[in-house]
Amino acid sequence: MKSLFDQTEFAGLKLKNRFIRSATYDGVADEGGHVTEELFQIYENLAKGGVGTIITGLTAVTDREQLSPGQMGIYDDSFITEYKRLINVIHQHDTNIIVQLASLGSQNSPSETTGKVVWGPSAVEDSNYKVTPQEMTLEDISFLQTAFADAALRAQKAGFDGIQLHAAHGYLLSKFLTPYYNRRTDNYGGTIENRARMIFETYQAIREKVGPTYPILIKINSDDFMDDGMSFEECKYVCQKLTALGINAVEISGGSPSSRLNEGVVRGIKAPEQEEYFKRYAAEIGQEIHVPVIAVGGNREFTSITKLINELPIEYIALSRPLICESDLIKRWQDGDMKSAKCVSCNKCFRRGGTLCIFNRRKQSAPQ
Ligand SMILES: Cc1cc2nc3c(=O)[nH]c(=O)nc-3n(C[C@H](O)[C@H](O)[C@H](O)COP(=O)(O)O)c2cc1C
Repeated sequence: MKSLFDQTEFAGLKLKNRFIRSATYDGVADEGGHVTEELFQIYENLAKGGVGTIITGLTAVTDREQLSPGQMGIYDDSFITEYKRLINVIHQHDTNIIVQLASLGSQNSPSETTGKVVWGPSAVEDSNYKVTPQEMTLEDISFLQTAFADAALRAQKAGFDGIQLHAAHGYLLSKFLTPYYNRRTDNYGGTIENRARMIFETYQAIREKVGPTYPILIKINSDDFMDDGMSFEECKYVCQKLTALGINAVEISGGSPSSRLNEGVVRGIKAPEQEEYFKRYAAEIGQEIHVPVIAVGGNREFTSITKLINELPIEYIALSRPLICESDLIKRWQDGDMKSAKCVSCNKCFRRGGTLCIFNRRKQSAPQ
C-alpha cells in the first residue's frame, strides 16, 4: 500500500513525501519580480511545514509583458544569485523547489496602461479581463519559446530542482489550446495537433537547453469548461504526445476565469463529494501515460487522498489554498493530528494585490 509519506523518485528527483505545493502566486516579489524578504519567508515557512516539493508561483520568462503586481520573474541572469540563496534555504529542509514558468497573455493589464505587449494566439478579447491581445507573429512565437528555454536554463543554473510549464487556467500557453481564443489558420491553429504545437515546441526548446535529464513538468487543464474550449479528449492527446517527447510529470487541473460559472475550480467546498474535483481526469490520464500524474484541486482530507493514490493511477497530491491557510499542514498530519485541512475554499484569498487567508490574515498573493 502506498503512503503519502513514501520516499519516491522520478527523473532523478528525490521526493521525501508525495505532497506538492501547487504553484501559488504569492504577490510579494518586488516591482521587477525580484525576491523580497516576505517572499523568502513564505517559502521558508512552507519548507519548514513539511511539504516535500514546492512549486513557485507563476514566474515571468520575459519582461516584454507586464508582470502582475508582486509576480516573480526569471527573465534575465540577475535572478540567478538571489534564487540560489532561496533554493539553498529550501534544500536545508530537505525540500525540493521547482519554478513555474509562465507567460500571462491577456490575463493581464492592457497595453494602453502599461506600455507592454499583450500576446495571444489571436486577437480575441479575454472574456473576463476584457483585454484584447495582439496576435503573435511567427517571430513573437519564436522569441517567446527562446525566452522560456533561456529561463529554464537560468533555473537550472540557480539550482531549482526542475521547471513546470504553466499551460493551464487561461494563461498564454493554455490560450493556444482553446479554440475560442485560438482562431489561427497557420500551423499553430485549427486541429489540436496545431493548437498544441506552441507547447510542444516550447517543451523541445527547453529540453535542448537543459539536457535530457533535467525534470520538466507541465500543469494543464483537463477541460476548459467553456463553450468552444479544449476538451478532455484533446487534453489526453496533448499529455500522451508530451510523454512521448519526454516530459517528466503532468499536473491535471482545469478551467480558467473564462469558464462557465461553478465549473472548473470548486469554491466553497462544503461536503466530501466536492473534494478532489479533478480526480477522474487525473486518473484517466494516469491510465494512459507512463509518467507520474499529480492531482490538484480540492485535496483536503488525509484518508481520502490516501485512497486516491492507492485506488487510482495518481502518484502525487498537490495543494494550494490549504497551504496558504496552514503552511505547516503536512507536518501537522505527519505528527498525528489528522484533522482535515482547515481551508474552507472560500476563495477570499483570491485578491488582486495580495492574498489574505481569512483564518491567518497573512498577506499573501492574488489571482490563479
Ligand atoms: C492565491 C492563489 C494563487 C494561485 N496561483 C497559481 C499560479 O501561480 N499558478 C498556477 O498554476 N496555479 C495557481 N493557483 C491555482 C492553484 O495552484 C490550484 O490549482 C487551485 O487553487 C486548486 O487547488 P486547491 O484546491 O488546493 O487550492 C493559485 C491559486 C490561488 C488560491
